[in-house]
Amino acid sequence: MDAKAWDERYAAHDLVWSVEPNRFVAEIIGPLTPGHAVDLAAGEGRNAIWMAERGWTVVATDYSAVAVDRMRSLAAERLGDAVERLTPLVADATQHAAGGPAAYDLALLSYLQLPPDEWRQALRAAVEAVRPGGRVVVVGHAGRNLAEGWGGPSDRSVLYDPDEVLDAVEGLPVSVEQSGIRERPVPTDEGERVALDTVVVLRRDG
Ligand SMILES: C[S@@+](CC[C@H](N)C(=O)[O-])C[C@H]1O[C@@H](n2cnc3c(N)ncnc32)[C@H](O)[C@@H]1O
Repeated sequence: MDAKAWDERYAAHDLVWSVEPNRFVAEIIGPLTPGHAVDLAAGEGRNAIWMAERGWTVVATDYSAVAVDRMRSLAAERLGDAVERLTPLVADATQHAAGGPAAYDLALLSYLQLPPDEWRQALRAAVEAVRPGGRVVVVGHAGRNLAEGWGGPSDRSVLYDPDEVLDAVEGLPVSVEQSGIRERPVPTDEGERVALDTVVVLRRDG
């Protein structure tokens, strides 16, 4: 899907994703001391708004202008004075992140579904964006989800198992804090199903 297709998808629905943050994002980021974060491909901002509520100063980018407008409206409704802590921007996640190199304590890639070359560029941009000691949090549909899990894209080339994430950061200045496949229960009309997500946390080396 390109930016236009995402615009159309967002325009067709009031809210495409949940109001709440992703459960793994909340689990990993919840205990951290708030600082400066960049959320790349932030969509409607469910994770970015939640982080701003918790004291983070967040730059949240997406290449869908419709998603970014919606994020801005949701943030205005939910954040009150804290709205100043969130900066929504239209930007391509495969390019250098706004703010410049080493500007952030944390970069988040949550369910960014791109073919390998573009996805590696986004991962490199995320690593470049964090300061030494900062974290890159990667959450997405696992490759294994296609055969063994529920929902998500049906195109294997935009799905990543943990070893594929680690391959993609080979040679980059990061250490692995955690990496694995996690189960995410999903309520459906036919009862609860389980989606398989890849969850990787990287720490930028000094
Ligand atoms: C599945 S949604 C996830 C949104 C959000 N991260 C979340 O977890 O709710 C994927 C998002 O990636 C965005 N996206 C895809 N490719 C992108 C790119 N190259 N640059 C910026 N955003 C991109 C889409 O517009 C869409 O909002």
